[in-house]
Amino acid sequence: MALEIVPSGQACGARVTGVDLSAPLDPAAIAAIRSAWLEHHVLAFPGQFLSDDALERFTLAMGGFGEDPFFAPIAGRRHIAAIRREADEQSPLFAENWHTDWSFQARPPSGTCLNAVDIPPLGGDTLYANQHMAWEALAPARQAELTDLIAVHSARLAYAPDGSYGTKDKGRSMDIRPSEAALATQAHPLVPAHPETGRRGFYSSLGYIVGIEGMADSTAMPLLMELAQWQSDARFVYRHRWEPGMLVMWDNRSVLHKATGGYEGHRRELHRTTIAAWSES
Ligand code: SIN
Repeated sequence: MALEIVPSGQACGARVTGVDLSAPLDPAAIAAIRSAWLEHHVLAFPGQFLSDDALERFTLAMGGFGEDPFFAPIAGRRHIAAIRREADEQSPLFAENWHTDWSFQARPPSGTCLNAVDIPPLGGDTLYANQHMAWEALAPARQAELTDLIAVHSARLAYAPDGSYGTKDKGRSMDIRPSEAALATQAHPLVPAHPETGRRGFYSSLGYIVGIEGMADSTAMPLLMELAQWQSDARFVYRHRWEPGMLVMWDNRSVLHKATGGYEGHRRELHRTTIAAWSES
């Protein structure tokens, strides 16, 4: 197997060919893919047309399944959720805010896989913002002010019963299950070192981050808003254009992501798995 890796030329992301993900991968292929993933943060594998079995096998090879709260899985699978929007759907777009998947967990997923099932002919791009670049572009004095801050994360604004995907959210084709469990909070460093590469970067953003430990909300909220603008500045962003049959895998510890619209009148569906938190053993 000879992986061909072509960087996007933007802030992160690479297109990977020369590998058939529908077949089991040997240890060398797994190591090569993981190494490219750590370098480019977002990998797109065109022309794969993976079944759900193959998506699960790939996710297991990359580190195992994460825990996915607040979504019902698709029928017959425990670990695959459908990111779906029907052609005539009127509900607000899912995941249109910058975020990192499930950052409110104690051990959040290291990565996410999205497998194209039904791709609209236009629109529906996914945007990724490189959080190492966002951190490294800050002046040293600003870094010093932020470096030891601890962020408070929660799913409450999205998945609590009164959250944006809560009981008032009607007409959505995705099977989202809001719950009081979304009120829980979890602390993580605002700018951790990546557990595998050691490179520092912002982790998550306003939305799942709901405060800063030891800081009044009147100070923390303007700071988080200012940082959210900075973290998603155009120079840090890669715009991913989907193709039928494509699998994308990203590193939640390195990038923020968000969905975009622009495909009104067309159906869009992707099957999603999360990759478990990394552990050194
Ligand atoms: C997600 O955030 O999981 C979905 C992104 C997308 O639909 O492009």
